[in-house]
Amino acid sequence: MNLKSKISDIKPKVVGFNLPHLSAENRLQRILTAALPKTSKYTNHENINYWNADFFNLNQVEIFQESDINEQSKILEIANLSLLSESYFIEKAGVGYMAKMVLLAETVEERMLYGMFTADETTHLQQIINFLPNTELTNTDDPFLNLLSEVVESDDKTVLLFVLQVVLEGWGLTHYRRLAKHCQNPIFSEILQNFLQAESRHHATGTTLFQEMSISASSEKIIIEILAQFLLMIQIGPQGILTAIEQVKGELTKVQKIQILEELDTENHSGTRLKILHSLMNIPSANNILQTLVEKGYFQPLSPSQCIL
Ligand SMILES: [Fe+2]
Ligand SMILES: [Fe+2]
Repeated sequence: MNLKSKISDIKPKVVGFNLPHLSAENRLQRILTAALPKTSKYTNHENINYWNADFFNLNQVEIFQESDINEQSKILEIANLSLLSESYFIEKAGVGYMAKMVLLAETVEERMLYGMFTADETTHLQQIINFLPNTELTNTDDPFLNLLSEVVESDDKTVLLFVLQVVLEGWGLTHYRRLAKHCQNPIFSEILQNFLQAESRHHATGTTLFQEMSISASSEKIIIEILAQFLLMIQIGPQGILTAIEQVKGELTKVQKIQILEELDTENHSGTRLKILHSLMNIPSANNILQTLVEKGYFQPLSPSQCIL
């Protein structure tokens, strides 16, 4: 093995999904705790159902309503854990992404902003960890997170800015606002509410920088390919809810899945989410990108039967 291949083998991933945690007794833990802003520590991980059945629209689902209380609580737990771990991985990736953008900054002020944003994402990560049960999260098979982990490795700044800060940070803002509003735990709800100010700065910085840059045809093509994959994930509705139900109730037939998606009013919900994404992408210098995605039908929600492949 030559030196070059050895170096590429150990090249650290920006996303950092596989980074392990130190043991609770490690001295660095105490230094980190002292460095982080003080927040209330939540230690009751017995009940992680911070979002209820209404939040997931599970009360409209017959198979859920007919389940006993234990099964209902188990389904809710899986759905909640999936929301929590998604936020954990997003914030974990956010720390690496913002640090990468410090290095890619072209002015002192841009470098300073990304330095501050790295600290924002670090604080968010710690706050999510405080509400996570003690499970070691070092890998994921979530398609959205896998897509995210590929995008952050890109060296094309226009791709990074548009996909991650204009679209996904903008999307994150709506997502966290909704999580904060419906969170059953008042402390966690307030913490999530406090994410919004930082996330809106991340989004505004991305939009401002992106609009100052010229986008090459090849970057545009890459952005369209990535966003097409992301939009498809929204078009096909809440597949995670189907998985949560299946894990408790056993394998679902195609007909049952379609019925659940109908009860969840999937087409309407996806339509609303796609409209939000459309408005996030609707900025002057992204005209071509938006038009291409519209023409290819990526903003059309799919019917329940189309969501089941
Ligand atoms: Fe964040
Ligand atoms: Fe952010």
